Amino acid sequence: MKAGAVGAGIIGTALLDRLGEAGWETGFVARRSGVYINGERLGDLDKYAEYCGGVDVAFLAIPTLDDGRTAFDYIHSFHRLGIPVVTCEKGAMSNYYDELEGSLDCIGYSATVGGGTRLLRYLREMQGRNIWEIHAIVNGTLNYIFDEVSSGRSLGEVVAETKKLGYAEPGEGSPLDVLNGELHDVAMKTAILFNISGVADKRIRAVDICYKPLDDDDLRRLMREASSRRYIVSISGENGDNDMIGGFEHNVDGWTISAGFRNIHENPLFQQLVPPGVNNALMIVEGEYGSDGTYVVKGQGAGAKPTISSMMKDADKLLKKKIFTIT
Ligand SMILES: NC(=O)c1ccc[n+]([C@@H]2O[C@H](COP(=O)([O-])OP(=O)(O)OC[C@H]3O[C@@H](n4cnc5c(N)ncnc54)[C@H](OP(=O)(O)O)[C@@H]3O)[C@@H](O)[C@H]2O)c1
Repeated sequence: MKAGAVGAGIIGTALLDRLGEAGWETGFVARRSGVYINGERLGDLDKYAEYCGGVDVAFLAIPTLDDGRTAFDYIHSFHRLGIPVVTCEKGAMSNYYDELEGSLDCIGYSATVGGGTRLLRYLREMQGRNIWEIHAIVNGTLNYIFDEVSSGRSLGEVVAETKKLGYAEPGEGSPLDVLNGELHDVAMKTAILFNISGVADKRIRAVDICYKPLDDDDLRRLMREASSRRYIVSISGENGDNDMIGGFEHNVDGWTISAGFRNIHENPLFQQLVPPGVNNALMIVEGEYGSDGTYVVKGQGAGAKPTISSMMKDADKLLKKKIFTIT
């Protein structure tokens, strides 16, 4: 099998190593500075399409520096060449879902939400069922920070550790900056979750979600209540939660989509949902108040390794399906 890669940073480089170990050949590597093969520069970045010959799958691992348009354009252009795409970039799926929905069978997107848990695949399989509500923990970094602080460690120490482990963005930001830095990530993941769930006819765009950044007072309160607070996303036909710190509420088609630091003792379902450490979790409540069952998926949510293994599984599935009728 032959791979093309767009982005060769933390994820792209480790992914290409893993693909190499699995016997894949690398067709090209596109990065801002140009297009490469085996470390040799072949040309400018805008010429990447010339090097796509024989590529079976294109892997997209670029940061979201815009609303996802750049990633969307890459996906669209690979599809026009008949090449399926596996992506871990969240902007395209969270803001251009309407445009991509017709070609989802040619996109591996599991790594955009939930790291290695594959929770989006599970959610997609539940489409059409009588979903009453959905709750999720989709940011492993925030979950890890609050889990560790609850066990008695200081916020400063835990935040420094998340940077070292590569869970949070590296840099000089304060703990408040780091927490706020994760909120955009949650908004993008929430839009993807809602759209994939198919509970409503309408789709949403992450850019339309207005979230409230945390301020110093919020942080002080959060530290006092750390053991009972987790950042939870909920999609429900009921009204939002009044006891939420930070976050957002967005209403569409009779559904309330909300997220924030919630009190996990307020809703018994949260006891089943909240995972330890850096993990992510998804809970689907089926039938009125769960009369048809409550299902939970959990697993490692942050970090390069689970992301890469999810991307490799996606590629495998795309190649097995071989449905490349791209719309
Ligand atoms: N790091 C993680 O643990 C993790 C986990 C889950 C998901 N993700 C997602 O994975 C993606 C990549 O993350 P990363 O940590 O690997 O980022 P990174 O280390 O900053 O690397 C980004 C790579 O993308 C290239 N790039 C940027 N803009 C580009 C463009 N327009 N066209 C072509 N290449 C471009 C860069 O080129 P240059 O090399 O020339 O600078 C670089 O090689 C992000 O969307 C992130 O949210 C990351």
